[in-house]
Amino acid sequence: MQANQPFKLAVLVSGNGSNLQAIIDYVEAGEIHASIACVISNIPDAYALTRAAKHGIPAIIHEGCRFTNRREYDRSLVEILKSHEVELVVLAGFMRILTEVMIDAFQQRIINIHPALLPAFPGLNAQQQALDYGVRFSGCTVHFVDHGTDTGPIILQAVVPVMQDDTVDQLSQRILKEEHKLFPQAIKLLVDHKISLHGRRVLLEH
Ligand code: GRF
Repeated sequence: MQANQPFKLAVLVSGNGSNLQAIIDYVEAGEIHASIACVISNIPDAYALTRAAKHGIPAIIHEGCRFTNRREYDRSLVEILKSHEVELVVLAGFMRILTEVMIDAFQQRIINIHPALLPAFPGLNAQQQALDYGVRFSGCTVHFVDHGTDTGPIILQAVVPVMQDDTVDQLSQRILKEEHKLFPQAIKLLVDHKISLHGRRVLLEH
């Protein structure tokens, strides 16, 4: 990266894109010294694409059905990301598992947000898992992506209470509100080079 050039991000999405919106807002407010080089969705009608277009960000549809397997998909994804000179890949509700093709091409440069306090409740339906288990607190986790599912080193976490009469939707909304602060905060730390990795432990510089 050139000194003082804004850090180039790609945000990968599959749905509503409320986390994408939070990141756009922080970038536009100058809180994160970065530019969003592109938004990529595997779902053609994801509302996140509309959000990107509204802010003049290249919005790319990259559908799984065009490829014979996950590795082929990821090879093409790496090409797109490299052609946009992307330095950090942000998974914001991207509902596809990445293969080693992507992970190895962007080692320690892919981050994800998960709607639970990892290592509890990895994978799908994390909020439902938390309710079913009966935990009193849940939350969200920003972590580096490694070869497992939601197993990478943890960057930041935020905690929310679980109420006795919570529905999945109520708990999800409470967690989302925290996600919208936590994800931009983690991106800012990375962009400002204030994160270092020591084994599994992520050290933050204040
Ligand atoms: C969030 O809950 C995130 O934690 C999960 O997928 C959801 C995406 O929401 N990975 P949105 O598309 O950012 O609104």
